[in-house]
Amino acid sequence: MNIIITGGAGFIGSNFVFHMLKEHPQDRVICLDKLTYAGNLSTLAPVMDQDNFRFVKADICDRNAVYRLFEEEHPDVIVNFAAESHVDRSIENPAIFLETNIMGTAVLMDACRKYGIQRYHQVSTDEVYGDLPLDRPDLFFTETTPIHTSSPYSSSKASADLLVLAYHRTYGLPVTISRCSNNYGPYHFPEKLIPLMIINALHDKPLPVYGDGLNVRDWLYVEDHCRAIDLILQKGRVGEVYNVGGHNEMRNIDIVKLICKELGKPESLIHHVTDRKGHDRRYAIDPTKIHKELGWLPETKFADGIKKTIQWYLDHEDWWQPIISGEYQQYYQKMYGSRG
Ligand code: NAD
Ligand code: DAU
Repeated sequence: MNIIITGGAGFIGSNFVFHMLKEHPQDRVICLDKLTYAGNLSTLAPVMDQDNFRFVKADICDRNAVYRLFEEEHPDVIVNFAAESHVDRSIENPAIFLETNIMGTAVLMDACRKYGIQRYHQVSTDEVYGDLPLDRPDLFFTETTPIHTSSPYSSSKASADLLVLAYHRTYGLPVTISRCSNNYGPYHFPEKLIPLMIINALHDKPLPVYGDGLNVRDWLYVEDHCRAIDLILQKGRVGEVYNVGGHNEMRNIDIVKLICKELGKPESLIHHVTDRKGHDRRYAIDPTKIHKELGWLPETKFADGIKKTIQWYLDHEDWWQPIISGEYQQYYQKMYGSRG
């Protein structure tokens, strides 16, 4: 099989590239990535010279480049991770989110229609369901929960999901969608909660917790997400949405305190700062469908996964140091400099 993985130089995409090359060595993996601020070619260095791996720098919105790649590689499967993924950035500048996350998805699916495909898989998010109240722990997102988005990011992802389902119904495109909760693990870009707090704590810098810090996210180790997508490709039913989550709800403040504890840093580093606009309160996935239909269960417990992740950041300063010393500093100053 020839599989195109878009966004494979980013956090989850790179973990998925490694997963596929390890679990399916007979397949050919082509990574298409624009290398935005979030894409990092050095992440892929260990596989760059493998015969069954090819990296192509291109924009999923570039129709000519995408069609050319389909003509060269005759892919059987597309897995679309490519996206603008950070909620805070979407609040600052929605336009690029609409362009990449919606229009880019359309271009990829147009290529699938034109050249034919066995499967188009869209990597989506639990954020399309909006949020749940903190005082209703009995509520979870299922695949039939109405789409009800909060941020430009989640709205762009929801739009893409609707388009994917429309291409299935209208053109019969063989699609699947996964909607996953918050991932954590190696190669997570430092702008996101867990790596940001690890790296700030290591530098004894303030740990900026938005609002009261009581917002809840459902954390899943990235490898468990990769296994879920692999299973959906193999056994998932075409036209279906699968929720992916680990029943591991944590409050932001508790995660930050845990990181302080693991690194031996004082909780006095924690600073409550101005809340994110429209901040979703709680995400919680009901993964019954993927468990019952495909037999998927998460394998990594949070207590182990967070230790592994912290150790990975301790061992891989060579990966994150160049990132945080470049344009990231300007981003950080803009987003956090004046945040009271
Ligand atoms: P990321 O920001 O770390 O990586 C995104 C990758 O996409 C980067 O390599 C970037 O260069 C590439 N990219 C961006 N725009 C592109 C374009 N126009 N053309 C080609 N490549 C482009 O993101 P991530 O956290 O790895 O998320 C990957 C996917 O998973 C996204 O679709 C996101 O919505 C979804 N998702 C993420 C999480 C999470 O917790 N991180 C959870 C659920 C779903
Ligand atoms: O739920 C899946 C989503 O998870 C994905 O679709 C997104 O691509 C991914 O970025 C993530 O979105 P979140 O907004 O949940 O992740 P983030 O790491 O930005 O924030 C997690 C929580 O931590 C959120 O409640 C905001 C809070 N936060 C975040 C940052 C960066 C802070 O309190 N301080 C911070 O500095």
